[in-house]
Amino acid sequence: MRRLLSLLTVLNLVFAAPSVPQWSFDLKQSTSGIVALESIVVSPTLAIFFNRPSLDPLHIDNHSALGALWDLRTSTVRPLEVVSNAFCGSGALISNGSMVSIGGDAPGGGINQAGNQAIRIFEPCASPSGEGCTLFENLETHHLFERRWYASTLRIFDGSLMIVGGTHANTKFYNIDPVNSFEFFPKKEATTRPSAFLERALPANLFPRVFALPDGRVFMIANNQSIIYDIEANTETILPDIPNNVRVTNPIDGSAILLPLSPPQFIPEVLVCGGTQTDTIDPSLLSSQTPASSQCSRIKLTEEGIKQGWQVEHMLEGRTMPELVHLPNGQILIANGGRTGFAAVKSIADPIGNSNADNPVLTPSLYTPSLPLGRRISNKGMPTTDIARMYHSSITLTPQGNFLIAGSNPNDNTTVGAKFNSEFRVQTLDPPFMKVARPRLLSMPKKLRFGQRISVPISVPPSLIGRDIKVSLMDLGFSTHAFHSSARLVFMDATISPFRNILTFTTPPNGRVFPPGPATIFLTVDDVSSEGAWVMMGSGASPPTLE
Ligand SMILES: *[C@@H]1O[C@H](CO)[C@@H](O)[C@H](O)[C@H]1NC(C)=O
Ligand SMILES: *[C@@H]1O[C@H](CO)[C@@H](O)[C@H](O)[C@H]1NC(C)=O
Ligand SMILES: *[C@@H]1O[C@H](CO)[C@@H](O)[C@H](O)[C@H]1NC(C)=O
Ligand SMILES: *[C@@H]1O[C@H](CO)[C@@H](O)[C@H](O)[C@H]1NC(C)=O
Repeated sequence: MRRLLSLLTVLNLVFAAPSVPQWSFDLKQSTSGIVALESIVVSPTLAIFFNRPSLDPLHIDNHSALGALWDLRTSTVRPLEVVSNAFCGSGALISNGSMVSIGGDAPGGGINQAGNQAIRIFEPCASPSGEGCTLFENLETHHLFERRWYASTLRIFDGSLMIVGGTHANTKFYNIDPVNSFEFFPKKEATTRPSAFLERALPANLFPRVFALPDGRVFMIANNQSIIYDIEANTETILPDIPNNVRVTNPIDGSAILLPLSPPQFIPEVLVCGGTQTDTIDPSLLSSQTPASSQCSRIKLTEEGIKQGWQVEHMLEGRTMPELVHLPNGQILIANGGRTGFAAVKSIADPIGNSNADNPVLTPSLYTPSLPLGRRISNKGMPTTDIARMYHSSITLTPQGNFLIAGSNPNDNTTVGAKFNSEFRVQTLDPPFMKVARPRLLSMPKKLRFGQRISVPISVPPSLIGRDIKVSLMDLGFSTHAFHSSARLVFMDATISPFRNILTFTTPPNGRVFPPGPATIFLTVDDVSSEGAWVMMGSGASPPTLE
């Protein structure tokens, strides 16, 4: 027995020895306390989670919490009081650093205050642990024009928010009471702006995928349709449909992301992956076993690119509710979701328990935008988890450089013992660079102006040759319903001094390229990324601001 053990030990050493660091999942000791169906990083050390009222184990003031602050350093959670029903709202950071949570649901589940017109403000929180930081809500002074559930929220060129679409009332599956309009926070005018696009994209037009383009206009996808909307002229330009009858917005969720923007031209390209190829949205005709689409479609948003239309390639598997998230080096992580079925709770012909989706995808892939068509997606070296992350889950890149993954709950209330539970386990997905000596940004000004050339002290470990230098300015986005609204990566021209101790870089020219507001800067040397530095891009003035 002892010899067998020592043989195993030797074998173990032999196989473990030449370990090139790999991607890995890391399960945290603490749970999220609430189902993290929305998540957003609000400081270098904190992410906010929001959930629906669903009798979650984390309590505040003798009731289940609707909000929580997750400490990225200690992996612990503290409850955050949310007064109105934030269920299936959205949000973003604005130009003065506040996080704004938008919309939600009618009263319910023990929450007496309607949240669907709510504007909730979380001011910049100086405490690393979030102690004493609260969410401000006052429906009399701060409210939307319309009741909006399942609307998207986007930070735009003047640092304010554009709020897109949604439904007035809670619906079981698709949009039956649409709010086919846009509005802004702070308000830009006395009414909403009707949207012919949202009208055309009914009924699968919830949580539209919306992107601030580097000229200030907004690219939008809903159902299988797309437009460019000009905020200043209030005009829409119709763009080609997503090919092959694939639909990508709730409840037929694919995901979409603005690919990294690079100087000097910052040419925008958008990638859309997953969703489902279907002609019908009648839930009685849909199944938890309906295969999701493996299609990824990419379009370059220049005159010539639009003429060429969408380029199609395929993921390694079909995915409904996939997540697309930037890495600091410009690659895109494809994670989570299911191989079959749909979003929403118990509304199709044959749910699995309450889940409209089945066959969770447990292995992430990487998408490399610069590789040739057809060769961009790989899961080589990617780890596999045993935790399903489907409806009502979230994922975000953190300032530490890894991905925070939490949530998943296709049930109305906290449910255990089902195939698809209410999921309170929290993981990070750690890139290989977390396990080696990393470059470091030794100091960084708290505020950066647009078009500023700046030098900062850095250190680069001797293990790195320094062949490839990338400096990225990122908005980490607001994650919910398979979409990271406002997520953005802008590369900055950068050089490193001969002794590798000074980094010089140039910030984007204006707020159209990077909407003014909080940002995280990463230095990547030979594919090894530093921890991020949290900065204010722009003056830090309240919106609207062009500086
Ligand atoms: C919370 O509940 C406990 C036990 O039921 C009770 O003693 C306490 O007064 C309650 N606190 C508040 C603030 O309602
Ligand atoms: C969930 O729990 C809340 C609070 O007890 C209750 O009002 C609601 O009816 C429950 N929902 C379902 C679907 O059981
Ligand atoms: C988009 O959906 C509409 C309405 O269902 C359909 O008529 C059209 O053919 C679809 N477009 C493509 C390119 O599949
Ligand atoms: C940011 O601007 C919003 C909108 O005007 C305001 O409600 C909030 O208090 C401001 N926050 C800070 C930190 O100035």
